[in-house]
Amino acid sequence: MERHIFALQLSHLLGESFSREWVYAQIEIPKQETHGDLAFPCFSLAKHFRKNPKDIAEEISLSIKHDVFDSVSATGGFVNVMLNKKFITSHTLKQLLSEPGEFGTHSFGEGKKVVLDLSAPNIAKPFSMGHLRSTVIGNAVANLAEKCGYEPVKINYIGDYGTQFGKLLAAYQRWGNSSLIKENPLHELKKIYVKFHQEAEKNPDLIEEGRQWFKRLEHQDEEAVELWTWFKDVSLIEFNKVYQLLGVAFDLTRGEAYYNDKMEATIELLKENKLLEHSEGAEVVRLDEEGLPPCLIRKSDGTTIYATRDLTAAIDRYQTYAFDESLYVVGHEQTLHFQQIVHVLKKLNFEWADRIQHIPFGMMLKDGKKMSTRKGKTILLEEVLKEAIDKARENIEEKNPQLENKDETARQVGVGAVIFHDLKHDRRNDVEFSLDEMLTFEGHTAPYLQYSYVRAKSLLEKGGFTSSSAAAEIDDPEAWSLIKTIRAYPEKIKMAYETYDPSTIAKHLLDLARSFNQYYAKTNIVNSHNKNEKLTLVYAFSLVLKDGLQVLGIEAPEKM
Ligand code: ARG
Repeated sequence: MERHIFALQLSHLLGESFSREWVYAQIEIPKQETHGDLAFPCFSLAKHFRKNPKDIAEEISLSIKHDVFDSVSATGGFVNVMLNKKFITSHTLKQLLSEPGEFGTHSFGEGKKVVLDLSAPNIAKPFSMGHLRSTVIGNAVANLAEKCGYEPVKINYIGDYGTQFGKLLAAYQRWGNSSLIKENPLHELKKIYVKFHQEAEKNPDLIEEGRQWFKRLEHQDEEAVELWTWFKDVSLIEFNKVYQLLGVAFDLTRGEAYYNDKMEATIELLKENKLLEHSEGAEVVRLDEEGLPPCLIRKSDGTTIYATRDLTAAIDRYQTYAFDESLYVVGHEQTLHFQQIVHVLKKLNFEWADRIQHIPFGMMLKDGKKMSTRKGKTILLEEVLKEAIDKARENIEEKNPQLENKDETARQVGVGAVIFHDLKHDRRNDVEFSLDEMLTFEGHTAPYLQYSYVRAKSLLEKGGFTSSSAAAEIDDPEAWSLIKTIRAYPEKIKMAYETYDPSTIAKHLLDLARSFNQYYAKTNIVNSHNKNEKLTLVYAFSLVLKDGLQVLGIEAPEKM
């Protein structure tokens, strides 16, 4: 609100050459609080007005006036505004406390649908750290979409098809042991898959065997389909354990194979539009004009591929959901693939092709290198989660052995640590895998946030606070930084959704907890004369923190 008022007054003063949106976007929050709460830099105006920024700032500052502003001043080319703390504080609390569930929500997404493609692990392979990234980032983006008014639809597009299954079937014929697979499916299947690649280096016949098995699968050969179905079923059981631990659910779980009998229609459509060309025995769509390599549609041996299935799935999703946005949360190594998909859909004249967006994220690296299943270089997510939960459990035994629900709390804390470790990084950056860091519970971590929440809750309990006793006004200069952080939350939600980057919220929650802990260190809350005002603030903090954690897909235990 104060930002809008500031922008409105500024743009009246500056005249029509500068749009209100531009002015609004220029407004900054000074790094040093003593400079003010909002600042407008005048440097880019200098040329237009042929005056120096300092003089412009002075002139403007004389004409900015409103009840929400305490003082307006000019320093070094900036117009600085100090807000009316009392007014802003009570406005913020009123907004938050009158309808806590509405705080941080927006209406700009109302009536719109966002389809999200997230997680998408590959069957017969362990759930990788890359798929963890897709799962937790996608889940948080879906939660953000919901807070902005959209209806999110989360789709788990399981990797259950492709030539690699031919290799797996061939490997199973040679070295498979069904009772071992029953005991520990993903581990055993990975083992024979890795072995296949090792042996194939010495014996090229294996590659041909893999190809033959894939052909059998494509032609619905009974034995091939039966094994494939079995691998799929056991994999899904394992994946579901991970989803349960993470607390992530999907609106639709549908694998690539679902599209097998629907791809011919896509190929027909490409033909009708004269887009399909032969190239070295294969069929492709040329994307020369777009400056991209051709999109492979059908291989020379007649088998279809990943891109063909994604094209078919995209069309099917539009027919089913008529989405306003369709987001694919997939690692950045697939950027080219999604560029090709969008361009082929555009060539087919689907006006909705532009609604598709790839939301790439960085890789999880081990010692600076990419992890690869084929070489057996992966880290098992389930083990990481188990270790994190064990560590949380140890902490509880040490610090609070009387706690009820120890198991559930340990799960919430351990899993929270792993999720937050991922989400606090800008999603585009690569992340070096470090179990130690994931298992650190202090500093910039979920357990630190969860602990701050628990501390707030216990203060409220000690002080006998209930939501109905909340104070309407707070006059406490010490609280200003915390109030401002609470107030910025809705804007951060919007920003995080617009950039599809949950790290905005993760970082904001750290700021929030830091402001709270500073406030808490400075003031004696329970024995102070204005105890109720202070507790109201603690309550406000707990509401926003819990909401923010929920957006990130992290639970907040009431005690720990
Ligand atoms: N299963 C694929 C992989 O692990 C990711 C699928 C992403 N989604 C999609 N619609 N292509 O590489």
